[in-house]
Amino acid sequence: MDNLERAKDENLIKSRQQEQVVNEENLSINDNKTNNDYGTDINHNSNNNVKKKYEEVALIGSGAYGTVYKATDRHNEGQFVALKKIRIPMTEIGVPVSILREISVLKQLQTFDHPNVVKLLDICHGHNFELEKQFILFLVFEHIEQDLSSYLHRCPAPGLSMDKIKDLMFQIMTGVDFLHSNRIVHRDLKPANILITNRGQVKLADFGLARIYKQAQQLTAVVVTLWYRAPEVLLNTSYSTSVDIWSCGCIFAELYNKKPLFCGQSENDQLCKIFDTIGAPDQNEWPNDLLIPWNNFANFKRQNLDNIIKDVCSDGKDLFKEMLIFSPSKRIGARQALNHDYFKDLRLP
Ligand SMILES: Nc1ncnc2c1ncn2[C@@H]1O[C@H](COP(=O)(O)OP(=O)(O)O)[C@@H](O)[C@H]1O
Ligand SMILES: [Mg+2]
Repeated sequence: MDNLERAKDENLIKSRQQEQVVNEENLSINDNKTNNDYGTDINHNSNNNVKKKYEEVALIGSGAYGTVYKATDRHNEGQFVALKKIRIPMTEIGVPVSILREISVLKQLQTFDHPNVVKLLDICHGHNFELEKQFILFLVFEHIEQDLSSYLHRCPAPGLSMDKIKDLMFQIMTGVDFLHSNRIVHRDLKPANILITNRGQVKLADFGLARIYKQAQQLTAVVVTLWYRAPEVLLNTSYSTSVDIWSCGCIFAELYNKKPLFCGQSENDQLCKIFDTIGAPDQNEWPNDLLIPWNNFANFKRQNLDNIIKDVCSDGKDLFKEMLIFSPSKRIGARQALNHDYFKDLRLP
């Protein structure tokens, strides 16, 4: 056997061992392999590990990949939890290794106990659907009373105070900085994925699952919003942490304006709305080898920021501008944003 083959075999063995470790330590596996009831949920399953531990109370919402339920923890004085149910395909050797890795990263993150990131309390294996080669995975999170989207809807006129907006943005950026310093790109930051406790604490949710979502079965009826997507995501060029900063810029404006900043109906419409506000990028900033030519947008002119984000102080306006820079490498980073003058009165001396 040559070295390359041996290395490949060793890697395979390692990843299988790793898989077993994660299986045994992190997942509570339920052995009920015969049930193939399609429409089932936690309260309808007999012999179900999830049902033994949690009692479903209500459906909270369903997004592109998962359904989220409010439930009580039977073993923890009926404490509320949020159960996220995801359908995942199975390979010949069981749970795909990439998913186990992702889950193990999420579990490791918990050890930091970061105040601005939602806590993952438990992971449970639900039903196996042998015919479809799929199984149900339940991610159990601490339950948070509301998300930023409903918080904004409920907020009475005339809207949030300047101080409240600054406090929310600071907490969001602190959470984002934590994710980025742990090499996690959220990729889908939007008000529905930002939770707020009744005491005003912000907790980022729905992150670190990108690889799981790639493999999970997408629920058909749900349209994924484009409104918070960075131009490099819409243009399908390479992207990293800076995509989250773009989304934060959009959320920042929404907190002030009480309505989403760019409400595109299609990817092209979203790009037009973006360039109609920030102006067309320089031609030399346009990524090479793009199917969409720069000329399509060349006529868009930059608008005056005073018309875009209303009633914001000059430091806030400057930070907003830095977050919505076309070129990802020129866009401000999360740590830099936290050190921006806009937040100077919130930083510890
Ligand atoms: N830990 C939680 N506590 C309370 N509500 C939650 C929690 N996590 C998610 N939700 C609610 O469920 C919705 C969907 O959850 P999310 O994790 O974003 O999944 P999806 O992949 O479906 O977008 C969120 O927009 C939020 O309103
Ligand atoms: Mg979501």
